[in-house]
Order: sequence, then C-alpha cells, then structure tokens
Amino acid sequence: MQNGVTLWFTGLSGSGKTTLCLCLDQRLQQMNVRTELLDGDVLRSQLFRGLGFSKEDRSLNVRTAAYLAQLLTRNDIVVLASFISPYRDMRAQIRQSIQPFVEIYVKCSLEECARRDVKGLYRKAFSGEIPHFTGLTAPYEEPLRPELIVDTEQHNEDQSTELILAYLIEHGYIY
Ligand code: PPS
Ligand code: MG
Repeated sequence: MQNGVTLWFTGLSGSGKTTLCLCLDQRLQQMNVRTELLDGDVLRSQLFRGLGFSKEDRSLNVRTAAYLAQLLTRNDIVVLASFISPYRDMRAQIRQSIQPFVEIYVKCSLEECARRDVKGLYRKAFSGEIPHFTGLTAPYEEPLRPELIVDTEQHNEDQSTELILAYLIEHGYIY
C-alpha cells in the first residue's frame, strides 16, 4: 500500500540520479508500489527535442516535469523524478506546487562526475563543445535543506536505495 509522493532527485550530470531512480523503481515494483519515472533526458527527447540549457529552457523543462509529478502524486503514485534542476529558486517553486515533496540531493563531486564521464559529456564540455554545462559553465546550486542526501561517492546504489526506502517507510509513504 502507498500514498502519493514525489521524490525529486537533483544533482550534477553523472552523479547517479537516473541509476538510483531505476534501482529504487525496481525495488518499489517488487513491493507492488505503483510508481512513475520522470527523467530529464527522457522528457527532453519525448517532449522538448532541441530545448537547450539556458536558465529559461531548464525552467520550462522542470516546470513541465513538476506539473506532471503533481498530477501523478495526487493520484497516489510514487513519482521518481530525476532532473539536474540546478537552481534553488526553481526547486523552491516546485516544492510549493507538489504535496508531499521529498527533495533528494544526489551528491557527488564535480571531479568524480568528470572522472566517471559516463556519456562523454564532460570531455566535450571541457573542450568547450557544450555551452551552459552544469558545474563548469553553468551553476549548480547545492540544496540547503534537502530531506535526504545520498552521497554516491560514499555509498553504492543498493545502500542508497535502502536509505531512501527506509525514509519512505518511516514517513508512512509506503506501508
Ligand atoms: S535540467 O537542468 O534539470 O533541465 O537538466 P535535465 O533535464 O536533467 O537534463 C540533464 C541531461 O542533459 C544532458 N546534458 C546536459 N546536462 C547539463 N548541462 C548541459 N549543458 C547538458 N547538455 C546535455 C545530460 O545527459 C544530462 O543527463 P544527466 O542524467 O543529468 O547526466
Ligand atoms: Mg540521468
């Protein structure tokens, strides 16, 4: 059984947001919890092909995601939303629009994200091929008071998943 909630994963590119959401999603499905995934890369390719990474473009992207998350949450879905969502003011707005809202900071240093470079984007960004790249030529404003921090340099995905599951049970979102 479950109550609706949006789990909003924010963090640098390559910090582990999508990986963690997929892992958590699998665990929740095994527990018969109804979930939906919303992911920046997917939303952009499905709805916003060609949208860039200026503050305005990111705003359109995350406000759309927040609206979808709001609809799903009020229909008792556990929403796993993974968006860099680098600006504090935008995340504050999202928090206002969704009830209940759990901000999860997927913490990983820029150095480690660049070392992992899963998609080869950091290499390109360092050589100047990608404008507005988060953490390099565009800001990432760390959350000040997220409900949860998962440090993907300290913990593997299973440990982080268990931490989030424990939070959801403790706060009565799943039972
Ligand atoms: S945002 O800021 O919330 O609108 O970004 P998001 O929708 O999550 O998209 C992030 C993914 O876009 C790819 N990518 C970039 N990220 C950051 N900056 C720049 N300039 C950029 N260009 C492309 C990258 O695959 C991000 O995916 P993740 O999963 O975060 O690595
Ligand atoms: Mg991702």
